[in-house]
Amino acid sequence: DAHARIEALISRMTVQEKAGQLSLYGPADIDTPNNPQAGWRNAQQETADVRAGRLTGLFNNAGLEGKRRLQQIAIKESRLGIPLIFGADVIHGFRTMFPMPLAEASSWEPALAERTARAAAVEATADGFRWTFAPMVDIARDARWGRGLEGVGEDVFLAKQFAAARVRGFQGTDLSRPDSMLATPKHFAAYGAAEGGLDYNVSDISERTLREVYLPPFRAALDAGALSVMSAFNEIGGVPSTANPALLTGVLRDEWKFRGFVVSDYTADEELVEHGYAANPREAAKQAFMAGTDVSMQSGLYMRYLPDLVASGEVPMARLDEAVRRVLRVKQKLGLLDDPMRGLDGLPAAQRPENPEFIALARESARRSIVMLKNDRMLLPLPKAGTKIALIGPFAEGTIDLMGAWSLFPGQSAPVGIDQGLRNALGPNSSVNVVRGSGIESALPGGIDAAVAAARDADVVLLAIGESQKMSGEARSRSDIGLPQAQQDLAEAVAATGKPVVVLLSNGRAMALKGAVRNARAILVTWFLGVQTGNAIADVVFGDFNPSGRLPVSFPQTAGQVPYYYGHKRTGRPSPESAPGTAFKTRYVDATNEALYPFGHGIGFSPVRYDSVELSSERMPLAGTLRVRATVTNTGSRDAEEVVQLYIAERAASVTRPVRELKGFRKLAIAPGASETVEFTLTADDLSFIGRDMKPTVEPGEFDLWVAPSAAGGIRKRFVLTRD
Ligand code: IFM
Repeated sequence: DAHARIEALISRMTVQEKAGQLSLYGPADIDTPNNPQAGWRNAQQETADVRAGRLTGLFNNAGLEGKRRLQQIAIKESRLGIPLIFGADVIHGFRTMFPMPLAEASSWEPALAERTARAAAVEATADGFRWTFAPMVDIARDARWGRGLEGVGEDVFLAKQFAAARVRGFQGTDLSRPDSMLATPKHFAAYGAAEGGLDYNVSDISERTLREVYLPPFRAALDAGALSVMSAFNEIGGVPSTANPALLTGVLRDEWKFRGFVVSDYTADEELVEHGYAANPREAAKQAFMAGTDVSMQSGLYMRYLPDLVASGEVPMARLDEAVRRVLRVKQKLGLLDDPMRGLDGLPAAQRPENPEFIALARESARRSIVMLKNDRMLLPLPKAGTKIALIGPFAEGTIDLMGAWSLFPGQSAPVGIDQGLRNALGPNSSVNVVRGSGIESALPGGIDAAVAAARDADVVLLAIGESQKMSGEARSRSDIGLPQAQQDLAEAVAATGKPVVVLLSNGRAMALKGAVRNARAILVTWFLGVQTGNAIADVVFGDFNPSGRLPVSFPQTAGQVPYYYGHKRTGRPSPESAPGTAFKTRYVDATNEALYPFGHGIGFSPVRYDSVELSSERMPLAGTLRVRATVTNTGSRDAEEVVQLYIAERAASVTRPVRELKGFRKLAIAPGASETVEFTLTADDLSFIGRDMKPTVEPGEFDLWVAPSAAGGIRKRFVLTRD
């Protein structure tokens, strides 16, 4: 059986071969020979390493042919014939690029994310990749952090649903199927809590915050079956995550009984030296390995030092065998030991026909990711005929900067830009006046004049502005989450014409909107929507699709409020909502505390009214449940989709609780004039928190509950949790 087979392999392996099974590298040809980056090897070394069993696999190595060749060498020419595993950053699609994960989280439809992850896995496995470094499940509450758009945003409950859905999508129902991809929730842990939103920076958070906010999405991903985890670059309270035994062994293994393997982030083990946590690379290898990082990515440290560390007795052979066993078990579960060439004998992506179903899914996912923040006097949808449209802004033309980070692989389907999307919707004879007006970060000579002329000549302006693809993603933190000045100037000039403006905001984070952008008649948050960007935007602009997205991150009033999130603590001096200017309260002197647009906010073309909320009782016993029924009505004349959200807050407990926490949501389709009733059931588990002893606890007491269209407002009820 599988177990005996793996043990037999381990018993035959040399220490070097064992270290090889724990060493992973990027492709030999991505870096130049002069690149000082650790772990770089040329193609001959790569081949020699595979032949000698000195590596377990490769990642981001595009192209089928190379993979096929190396796998043949591994199985036919290496001593034990152990197959390689090929991994990749398949973050939001492979060939068909879907919206960035944060965008897709705006759909509040985990089932949609499951479908796009499945599609990505089907495409990537056909190119030989059986392992994805996704989903990123880091909670991100500081919009300056560049990587927020790879995750689900600020909320734990929402992040848990998406984490689990994406794992199910990537891994499918059975990991041994050829189109299943091993999922890797990352970055363990609290990478998103980087101080100042600065990528790779220190996360100095309490154990409570770690356990309440940052760990639960990982737990959800593992409960959904993920069998690898990536350790993070950051330290928490003085201990780098990649060498943190309390996290990698205590939480993952002892508490959660995780049976897969842990891979480091790129050279994160070697970086222990720069952290000042290990005196030299040998020490770094030992610290990372003994803490529980099973596989080393890119640095080559394990290959270099583990044999010697075992020989000297500093690393027990049992630990080495344990790590190898974890890796081989996953390779076995993927079916690689039985059929190593699976996925490697087809045609490369670019030569395979596109799958029209995936393109349709990309459009569906993209339009469901759009969030309409405002639509004064029902400016949208625009009629398709009889309106002169000026499409202005640096994102108006072309398709660069619409895909988002991690659009890595060759052979991608052709993207549809915004101008093209409008033309597709309006027909060949339509005239949309397209003017860039400005670059993304710098002005264009004569740009504003041309934009103003186009606006004057139009009935309505679509202003396509925002952040470039390079302004978010890894190592792309921003110190200011506003719009670059050149685009703000463009927006002011266009607005000064008095023509109605619809802002189409391309963005990788919550932004601080001001002036003409904030005051535009309509604002659509379009994030980075992937291959069908233009069509999806046109669907919403012309009303072929009723926007139903909701913000997964709060939009603050000003950049200075960051980190800004709805589920904050009250403090001893909360600022009274009814008198926000009161002195000596928790407030800034120059801004109120409310969001400009709260978490959960988004509107459609038809207004929805929250009519009533009824509780099954005002008392809920610890062992019982509480049913919450809410009725909402579509008061408009078009179909509506409403995301009904349930929040709770305990008024007093042995540790302080957030002002609100999301505990449920439901997306409802409501016909014009119709009412719908939605029911939630709360259990004690929903009311639990991490107690003073760092274990989950539930405390009887008084709770507020809201059923609401966002994290602000809604209908409030009160109930009491009783012991029995
Ligand atoms: O998977 C990524 C990770 O998220 C950031 N560093 C590089 C890895 C591999 O590309």
